[in-house]
Amino acid sequence: MSKITIEGQNLLSGEVKISGAKNSAVALLPAAVLANKKSVIYNVPEIKDIGYLIEIMELLNCKIEQKDDALYIDSSKMKNVPIPEELSVQMRASYYFMGALLAKYGKVEISFPGGCNIGARPIDIHIKGFEELGAKVEIVKNRYTITAEKLVGKTIYFDFPSVGATINIMLAATGAEGTTIIENAAMEPEIVNVASFLINMGIEVRGAGTKRIEIVGTRKTTDAVIEVFPDRIESGTYIIIGALLGDNLKIKGIIKEHIEALLIKLKEIGIDFVIDGDTMTISRCENLRAVKVKTLVFPGFPTDLQQPITTLLTQAKGKSIVEETLYENRFRNTYDLNRMGAITNILTLNKLEIKGPRKLKGTNVIATDLRGGASLLIAGLIAEGTTVIENCDVILRGYSHLTTKLQNIGAKIEITE
Ligand code: EPU
Repeated sequence: MSKITIEGQNLLSGEVKISGAKNSAVALLPAAVLANKKSVIYNVPEIKDIGYLIEIMELLNCKIEQKDDALYIDSSKMKNVPIPEELSVQMRASYYFMGALLAKYGKVEISFPGGCNIGARPIDIHIKGFEELGAKVEIVKNRYTITAEKLVGKTIYFDFPSVGATINIMLAATGAEGTTIIENAAMEPEIVNVASFLINMGIEVRGAGTKRIEIVGTRKTTDAVIEVFPDRIESGTYIIIGALLGDNLKIKGIIKEHIEALLIKLKEIGIDFVIDGDTMTISRCENLRAVKVKTLVFPGFPTDLQQPITTLLTQAKGKSIVEETLYENRFRNTYDLNRMGAITNILTLNKLEIKGPRKLKGTNVIATDLRGGASLLIAGLIAEGTTVIENCDVILRGYSHLTTKLQNIGAKIEITE
């Protein structure tokens, strides 16, 4: 199993470029099967989940060529075959084949998806949505067979604005007769990215990025091209690293509107930065202040930056409180943070207290999940001495060219098997 070794406390300068967003890209690949024949996706991040999605698409007889960061997908000879459990459990995004294949073929067979172990993560909202469009869902031992002789568009109200369900129902609705309206839809930027791709295919989608999305179903699509947005969570992670260790560090690929909640919180903590166009310049800040952070759906503070900002708050003076409202098991990183010298206490199931500032010391730790791993990585970069992060593959699921990007700005970091 691979591990990351970090020699901490090196200042970071130069430029780091943000890659395409994982959570957009992993939806755009399954969405590509809805294009007439050919599609191109630019700015695809080099992360493990993309490899698994390509495996699934090749199984479905799509031809995929990779050139630099672009994927050329030819779905003209596609076949609808059951997706085996060993592939679908590799990542959460395998569930997007439910919506896409249901729209295209009226049938899909797939297992419950995988993804980080950060809570129960049910998919009931997706299933209810498919059923409302007229599909029949059979579940036998985690294996889902979803069929529809005909999907019919209607107004669907989500009990919770789930990112995955919003995208999945958008995909399914492209194959429905008439108009589907999603009320209380998620508003995350990834949804806008997927909607743009569908629009480029000639599908009518209106309102993506708001709470009400309208999709007019059609099987008549064209070939399509899309570029993956820069990853707002990767941006946030490097910004936090810059606030702790930057020496005029430049972060390129910032979309300010996607990370507004983080930027406001950083100002409150006492962190200065300059944004010029799509580039942020940030340097190490002193005298950080403790704050309260509450994770919320977009445009609120993103849950995927909760664990990284926890590490930042170990360096802030006073008592910070982090409230996690999306997942019930997203504090597992704190066990190792405390072993490195942090003082964090889980007050209730979803509330964490962090007392700072604390000097961190390098030691052997284990990445339990993607963003928890990122939290330990940041801790390793600021800690005195050597940090070894075991099970680092989970971190590589979300950060493209992680060690190269960090080495290029001066970090002493390497991956070994
Ligand atoms: N939920 C339900 N029922 C559903 C769907 C969701 O109860 O049918 C609950 C979940 O259990 C969770 C909350 O709603 O408590 C949010 O889930 P959502 O569906 O919005 O999240 P997701 O689609 O499973 C995506 C990202 C996550 C990110 C969340 C929230 C992908 C592949 N994953 O997950 O990314 O945390 O949205 O923004 O897009 C990560 O990148 O580290 C990551 C976990």
